[in-house]
Amino acid sequence: MHFFDSLWEEANRSFTPWVLLLAAVSFLLAKWVAIDKPRFKAMFFFIAAHLIGLVATAAFESVGSNLVDLLRTPTWILAAAGLVGAGATLLFSVVLPRMRLHAPLIVQDVVVAIAMVGAMLGVLSRAGVNLSGLIATSAVFTAMLGFSLQDVIGNIAGGLALQVDNSIETGDWIKVGDVTGKVVEIRWRHTAVETRNWETVLIPNTVMTKSNVIILGRRRGQSTMLRRWVYFNVDWRFQPGDVIAVVQNAVRGAQLEQVAREPQPNVVLMDMTDTFGKYAVRYWLTDLAVDDPTDSSVRSCVYFALQRADMTLAMPAHALFVTEETTDRKAIKTEKQVARRRQLLTTIDLFAGLSEAERTELARTMKYAPFAKGEVMTRQGADAHWLYLIEDGQACVRVTDGTHDREVAQLKGPCFFGEMSLLTGEPRSATVIADSEVECFRLDKAAVQQVIGARPQVAEQLAKLLADRKVALQVAKEGLTADAARERAAREANALLKRIRSFFALN
Ligand code: CMP
Repeated sequence: MHFFDSLWEEANRSFTPWVLLLAAVSFLLAKWVAIDKPRFKAMFFFIAAHLIGLVATAAFESVGSNLVDLLRTPTWILAAAGLVGAGATLLFSVVLPRMRLHAPLIVQDVVVAIAMVGAMLGVLSRAGVNLSGLIATSAVFTAMLGFSLQDVIGNIAGGLALQVDNSIETGDWIKVGDVTGKVVEIRWRHTAVETRNWETVLIPNTVMTKSNVIILGRRRGQSTMLRRWVYFNVDWRFQPGDVIAVVQNAVRGAQLEQVAREPQPNVVLMDMTDTFGKYAVRYWLTDLAVDDPTDSSVRSCVYFALQRADMTLAMPAHALFVTEETTDRKAIKTEKQVARRRQLLTTIDLFAGLSEAERTELARTMKYAPFAKGEVMTRQGADAHWLYLIEDGQACVRVTDGTHDREVAQLKGPCFFGEMSLLTGEPRSATVIADSEVECFRLDKAAVQQVIGARPQVAEQLAKLLADRKVALQVAKEGLTADAARERAAREANALLKRIRSFFALN
């Protein structure tokens, strides 16, 4: 027979035109979806091998060689494999994605494997192979193989079960035995878990299906978050109710990254020892990858909140103070602290008009009030008649109109804020949030009252200074002339002075 005739005949026998058509269709369509590269490669390999086999078969047939019979069945098998590959590409890369269905990779592999076995049996039966004999011998072979590969098969079945029932998905944080980490891949044999310590643990799928797997932070119908416990101890000089209120307010008010707003953090007294109460802040962590850094932010917040409230973390009962706290030492310490506060007051223009004695008087009453990063230092609308002097650190000033919240200024120590409520008694006009750890002091109305009461001109100085600052901002914004600015500043100062006088009940 002529070569091309036998090629055509062989191609028809092994359904080559159909294989090529399906492969072309799946290739063209899948290109518009997502190309599944390994499957494409396999399909091309089978089809190319089939075409080579086909040409060889036709060539041997045209010369009347016996090798034809030897080559024909493998060539058919390759065609069947190409057909299954093209069908699988069409199904998994085109049809199912269009129907918004996604079959896990492992399921796709199993379907393809079964289809391959089916196609191979079909081809063998067509080639005249006695399938019942083959199946009988392969059953014994399979039983032997199954017995020796129990573990492997168990792992594969486990992997399949995990994928099919969706109980664990990539991206989940899980705890299996001592291993805690994020699932990055579910393979045939194992599930790969990346830990926070930069390790990848390959957990055999049989272990995954046989042991208790804790999926961290997952609760039906809720977003992912995990409750964390941060412990701290405070001694019995401070009442539990007060400790809980101080710390709970601070942690709830703070805008800490990765700490859920809802449910709100809470503080509980966990245990009682002879010398101190053991407390815990319980908060909900929203990004499970950053547990320790978030715990650390919460701890800072606890520490600063206790400092501001003059509460101290408990010391071990056996701690000894080796330096005797004499009256002299105490006085030196206090003087040092007053000097530090006075120095801060001199760097701030609001207090430039005060005498040295007046600044010292204020410095003696100033209260150390440090803040952790993210803590709300003051909240818009609050009634708070004191002012903060930032010695070191940064904060941002935010204003909300009820719907929109925007940043209006950045503060960097040394500076102050909260003067309006301190001097006029009006509610806070803005919210101020610590952008870093902030070394800060608080100056209360009572102290200012003393100074203004003794020298009422101080009120005038303060009113003038605040009015000048306010108008300076308006000059830049509205392009006021010097005369207009001076006139407006005088008006503002008058109005402000009236409010200060009324708030401080001056004459
Ligand atoms: P008070 O209204 O007492 O409380 C919030 C404080 O934020 C306010 O005083 C000012 O000290 C400060 N503040 C408000 N708006 C601004 C702003 N635009 N620029 C700088 N500081 C501001």
